[in-house]
Amino acid sequence: MADYFYVTTPIYYVNAVPHLGTFYTTIVADALARYHRARGADTYFLTGTDEHGQKIERMAQELGASPQAYCDGIVAQFKKTWEGMGVSYDRFIRTTDADHHAAVEAMWRRISANGDIYLADYDAMYCVGCEGWKTEEDVVEVDGNKLCPLHRRPVERVREQNYFFRLSKYADKLLALYERPGFIRPESRKNEVTEFVKSGLRDLSISRTSVKWGIPVPNDPKHVVYVWLDALTNYVSALGGPDRVLTDPRSQALWGACTHLIAKDILRFHAVYWPAFLLSAGLPPPKGVFCHGYITVKGQKISKSIPATRVDPNLVAGALGADTLRYFVLREYSLGGDGDFTYEALFQRHESDLGNDLGNLVNRTVSMACTLSDGFDAPHRSGYSAGDPLSEEELLLRTAAAEATRAASKAWDDFQPSRALEATWAMIRAGNVYLDRTAPWKLKKAGKTAELRDILANTCEVIRRAAMMVAPAMPAAAGEILRQIGREPDLGRWPVEDWGGWPGGKLCEPKPIFPRVEPDRQKELIATWLDQTPPVKVVAAASAATQAAVEIAIEDFQKLDLRAAKVVQAEAVPKTEKLLKLTLDLGGESRTVVTGIAGAYAPADLVGRTVLYFANLKPAKIRGVISQGMILAAGGENVLALCSFDREVPAGAKVK
Ligand code: MSP
Repeated sequence: MADYFYVTTPIYYVNAVPHLGTFYTTIVADALARYHRARGADTYFLTGTDEHGQKIERMAQELGASPQAYCDGIVAQFKKTWEGMGVSYDRFIRTTDADHHAAVEAMWRRISANGDIYLADYDAMYCVGCEGWKTEEDVVEVDGNKLCPLHRRPVERVREQNYFFRLSKYADKLLALYERPGFIRPESRKNEVTEFVKSGLRDLSISRTSVKWGIPVPNDPKHVVYVWLDALTNYVSALGGPDRVLTDPRSQALWGACTHLIAKDILRFHAVYWPAFLLSAGLPPPKGVFCHGYITVKGQKISKSIPATRVDPNLVAGALGADTLRYFVLREYSLGGDGDFTYEALFQRHESDLGNDLGNLVNRTVSMACTLSDGFDAPHRSGYSAGDPLSEEELLLRTAAAEATRAASKAWDDFQPSRALEATWAMIRAGNVYLDRTAPWKLKKAGKTAELRDILANTCEVIRRAAMMVAPAMPAAAGEILRQIGREPDLGRWPVEDWGGWPGGKLCEPKPIFPRVEPDRQKELIATWLDQTPPVKVVAAASAATQAAVEIAIEDFQKLDLRAAKVVQAEAVPKTEKLLKLTLDLGGESRTVVTGIAGAYAPADLVGRTVLYFANLKPAKIRGVISQGMILAAGGENVLALCSFDREVPAGAKVK
């Protein structure tokens, strides 16, 4: 029976250009797809963009562009980046594509025909950042505002007539689905989703009348389809739509082999809403959902307001090659857990794993082999007859290769790229040890050419295998390695465990594949990258600027009691990501303020600072603490900088 593999990334919102986070998911999916293709599976790899909805509608409006033109511009950037990173998708799907539009209509009709859609009045909270509905339990209250904890911006009140999906009807079926082995991976995520469903499901609003940028609801074009129902459908649109998934054998088989690769931010949409939509539409759920963790940069969430957290894959790839960054993210983070990125760690792996281990093995071998007068295209073990016993070194090398191939295959099969590469490196290191122990350079001096050829043939074989085994992670480097050892840069095969021996090949001039980057140059590059990396978001704080235009009278302004206040104590508010509790000195009088600036300032950086304090704001209870007023900062949803004074002022001084 043919064997299938279908992997998807989330389709990314076009409010941001590619960044380290979206790069990560895409490269993991690409590496998995490359591995499965190489082992002969009928493979399909889907990525793309999520273009409809309120977020994009507003963003285009703020820029004075039509939504379609705006989306086209960002999509071009995504495609260019993925091309430069060697992303081998089979299709880049856009929710503005005509076949997707048809598939969404078909999904809607199927769900509706099943009696799962009804019309009702709705009065609810909505976070445009998540494009998601929020309940009281989902929001946090700061300074009297209800904020989405993820986007740190106020949720909006939506009162309109909406179509609803009978989600509540599917609770038992979903819980049964989660018991299917491997449907949600890792296991901890399965427990989280199970708890969520057990705590009770409400029906879900699946249309909007106040949003225009979307796919009209069949037979009621006043409404557009809720952006998540629209977006999730992309996974079946790419296979020809829901009907084809049920009738066409290849689409059916691929769908049954489909894994959605996502991060934890969108687990609920993929593990609860999506399978419920599918069940309602009479479609089987996919094979499963694999949820990976979040990458932070130097411990901080990737954010437009913190320049140091912006990592532009294009800049890094421009200097080091895309493969180094690809290898780094695949090797450094175990898929499923959270991980931190630093440029220093990236250079560390570039120098040691790539330069010292793999690069050195190739370079030493190719350099030595090229000095052999008769070239190097003869098959393995030319100097011995077939029955000769293996040397201890050769036995060790062959065992290491077999073991590495087995372990790496298993790890790729299990969605564990980091372990797969670790196993591959065990073989690469064994290759270097083999060279050190057999010391072919001495044989050359002693004129033992036959033995020398055999040793180099063995290392060439290890290199050939290594190239194929690193190819899912580093396709360009793998091709170059194969070229240097005189093989076709054919990455289309995954090596077998059995040691077939070196098939021969005309070696080329050696050329370092991962050239060293000296420490001073590393520092220089890091500084340039930090300086040149563009903001993650396309429009920074545009909405904050437009909100500022209300006129008030001077008398209104005079009602504000603004003061200079000295921070005497600062601590994180437990179980929150962004809140800090500050104790302020107002010239002898002490005040407590809870403020949402932890994303931009550490408590220790605040003590001793003089800040601008709005003293007569009505006190509010935030996370059990009475907050007396607020401190002022620049920025919108994300804090850019605290307001301060350009010279010393006494605590409590009036500001007007
Ligand atoms: N458009 C929706 C997805 C619809 S899928 C039917 C969306 N888009 S997104 O642009 O916000 O992308 C979210 C995804 O990007 C995450 O689930 C993850 O795959 C990736 N990541 C974004 N930031 C990330 C990190 N900091 N770390 C790891 N992955 C990250 O949600």
